[in-house]
Amino acid sequence: MASRGSFASKFGVLMATVGSAVGLGNIWRFPYQMADNGGDAFLLMYVICVFFMGVPAMMAEFIIGRHTHRNAVGAFESLAPKTSWTGVGYLGVFTGFIIDCYYCVVTGWTLYYLYKSVTGSLLGGTMDSYAQMFSAFAADTWLPIILLIVVVIITCGILVMGVQKGIENVSKVLLPMLFVTLIILAVNSCLMPGALDGLKFMFVPSKSNVTLFTFLDAAGQAFFSLSIGMGALITYSSYFDDNINITKTATQIAVIDLLVAVVSSLIIFPAVFTFGAEPEQGPGLVFKVLPSVFTQMKIGWLWSVMFYLLLFIAALTSFLSITEVVVAYASETFNLKRLTSSIIIGAIFVVIGSVTSLSFGPLKDVTLFDMTIFELMDYLASNILLPVGGVLISVFVGWRLDRKVVASQLKVESPKQYKLLSVYIFFLRYIVPVTVGGVFASQFFS
Ligand code: PHE
Repeated sequence: MASRGSFASKFGVLMATVGSAVGLGNIWRFPYQMADNGGDAFLLMYVICVFFMGVPAMMAEFIIGRHTHRNAVGAFESLAPKTSWTGVGYLGVFTGFIIDCYYCVVTGWTLYYLYKSVTGSLLGGTMDSYAQMFSAFAADTWLPIILLIVVVIITCGILVMGVQKGIENVSKVLLPMLFVTLIILAVNSCLMPGALDGLKFMFVPSKSNVTLFTFLDAAGQAFFSLSIGMGALITYSSYFDDNINITKTATQIAVIDLLVAVVSSLIIFPAVFTFGAEPEQGPGLVFKVLPSVFTQMKIGWLWSVMFYLLLFIAALTSFLSITEVVVAYASETFNLKRLTSSIIIGAIFVVIGSVTSLSFGPLKDVTLFDMTIFELMDYLASNILLPVGGVLISVFVGWRLDRKVVASQLKVESPKQYKLLSVYIFFLRYIVPVTVGGVFASQFFS
C-alpha cells in the first residue's frame, strides 16, 4: 500500500481544514441564503445550527478519521467490517465525485474573472453588459472547459505533492492571505455611502417571515459550508496526529467559517446597495453584479483582482479537499501511486466536468426533473447526498462506534468530562438525525 502522509503542524491542520470549509458556499451561497431568509433571523438560526449540529457532526468525522487513519471507505471497513456501514464510505466518495464535477466548473469561472481583472478588461461595462457577458461566457463551448482543465491540473498537481508538501503548505500560505484580503474588502465596502442600507438588509429583519423552512435552510447551509457529510473531514483527519484536540479544532473551524460567511456578506451587501443593484441574484451575484460595483469604485482594478483571487483561492482549497477523498480512496484501495490516481481521477473529472459545463450552452435543453445537468448535480449533492451522509456518520458514531473509542479520541478522563460525553452522544443520536432528517424531508414537502 502507498505510504500515508500526515499533517506536520497544528497550524497546518487548521488551515487545511478551514481551507476545505471556506469555499464558494461562504462567499456566494451564504449571503444569498441570508437575503432570502429574513436577515438576522437567518443568521441567528445559522449560528445555532453550526454549533448544535455542525460541530458535533464535524467531531464525529474527526473521531472516525483519526482513529482509523484510513480513507472514507477504509475507515468504515475497519470499524464495521463486512457490514453495510461501508456503504457510507462509498456514498462519500460518490458525493465527492458529484460535487467535484460541478465545483471545477465554477472554480474555472473564478479563474476567468480573475484573468479579466488582472488584464484590466473587466472594468468599464454596465450592469446589463456584465449580465450578458456572464451568460455568453458560461454558454461558450470551449473557454469554460479549458479553464476547468486548468483547475483540475492545478488541483491534481497539489495533491500529487502529497498531504504535507501539497495540501498543508498551500493552505498555510493561501488561507491567511484570504483572510487579510476579506477584511480589507469588507472595511472598504462598509465605508461606502450605501453601507448602512446594506447592513440593515443583513442584520435588521424587515418582516417576520421566519418559518420552519428558514431553520431547515440554515441547517442545510451549515452542512454544506462546514464540508460535513461526505468524508472530506474523515479523510483530512486521518492525517491528524494524536496531539490535535478534536473538540477545539472543530470549534475553531466553525467560528472561522462563520466569520468568513459574515465578512463576505459585509463585502457584498454594502457595495450592492451603494450602487443600486438587486441583491437577490443567487449564483450570478458575484459574477454579474460585482464587476459593475468594482467599475464604479476608486482603484476598482485592485479590488476586483483581490476579490476574484480570493474567490479562486477559497474555491480551490475546498476543491482540493473534495478531490482528496476520491484520490485517497483510489490510491489506497487499488494500491496506486498518488500520481497515477490523480491523473486518472483528474481525467474523469475533465470529461464529466465538461459535460456539466456544456449544460450552460449546447446541452442547456437536456434536463431531468426540470433541472439542467449542472443544477441536477448541485441539487443531488447538497440537498440529498450531504444531509444523508451527515446523518449516517453521526448515527454511526452515536449508536454503533464503541464508546471507548469516542472517549479516547476526545481525551475524556474525568467524571465531569464523561458527563459531557453523554451530552455529546445525545446530540449525535437524536439532535443531528432529527434536524437533518427535517432538512431532508423539507426538500420533498416544500
Ligand atoms: N465547504 C465547501 C464550501 O463551502 C464545499 C464542500 C462541501 C467542501 C463538502 C467539501 C465537502 O464551498
